[in-house]
Amino acid sequence: MQLLDGKATARSIKEEIAEDVKKMKADGIREPHLVAVLVGHDGGSESYVAYKIKDCEEVGFKSSLIRYEDDVTEEELLKCVTDLNNDDSVDGFIVQLPLPNHVSEEKITLAIDPKKDVDGFHPQNVGQMAMGLPAFVSATPQGIIELIKRHKIETSGKHVVVLGRSNIVGRPMSILLSLKGEPGNATVTVCHSRTQNLKEICQQADILIAALGSPGFVKADMVKEGAVVIDVGTTRLPSDKTKSGFKLTGDVVFDEVSPKCSFITPVPGGVGPMTRASLLINTLQAAKNRM
Ligand code: GUN
Repeated sequence: MQLLDGKATARSIKEEIAEDVKKMKADGIREPHLVAVLVGHDGGSESYVAYKIKDCEEVGFKSSLIRYEDDVTEEELLKCVTDLNNDDSVDGFIVQLPLPNHVSEEKITLAIDPKKDVDGFHPQNVGQMAMGLPAFVSATPQGIIELIKRHKIETSGKHVVVLGRSNIVGRPMSILLSLKGEPGNATVTVCHSRTQNLKEICQQADILIAALGSPGFVKADMVKEGAVVIDVGTTRLPSDKTKSGFKLTGDVVFDEVSPKCSFITPVPGGVGPMTRASLLINTLQAAKNRM
């Protein structure tokens, strides 16, 4: 069993990006600039955005944080998006989700200029991605593609089983791996809450990608000997053993599944750091597109 070390891989990617930024600056081109818009005080969102800002600092990007209280109106947020679209000093921006119920996430996402949509959530980017055209791809699936590429894991002709069909992980992941090209050329099955014979389908997977958000869902008897297992789950379970008061828990029972695997991602330290690195990749690309 080989560990797919997302932390180390993300570190390499960040070093490469930092080098690129140094070259840009040496050529008199300003550094990439990412803006994060954060609404409210959800603990998860707060910490994700704080990590995104910290990552920017580490690679030499400029970053800005725009905060709103939970009672922000949809109009105010739409105005913020329009202003960011029109601000030439901003290369890319994200509006951290979820948003309060009275704000339509769809409307906000549609208002973002696809050229600055470094989250890859805008339908134009999703459509281009699905056609194999240049696009900003949402961070988690792109991070997994990068992890697969950098570990030279063969996907061509393999049976990939994706657990979960969310717009930002499961579905784009299934599309990317079924596209013509490398990594890609896979035969992909997407499973979800209505799937029948799920265990039998998982047992057929050469590559199993678990993106359900259901802690400990994937057990040893669901995994084929020699499979590659990628765990996207990051559920925060309460814990009195950690400083933060929670323990990040994956969708896979690591201890019992890992002995059967050729490759497996740990949680934490697997997909999470790759997701963060992907946002940097997209922001750098947005800045290069501006040049
Ligand atoms: N909420 C959870 N993941 C994400 C993400 O990747 N981007 C944004 N904007 N919100 C999120």
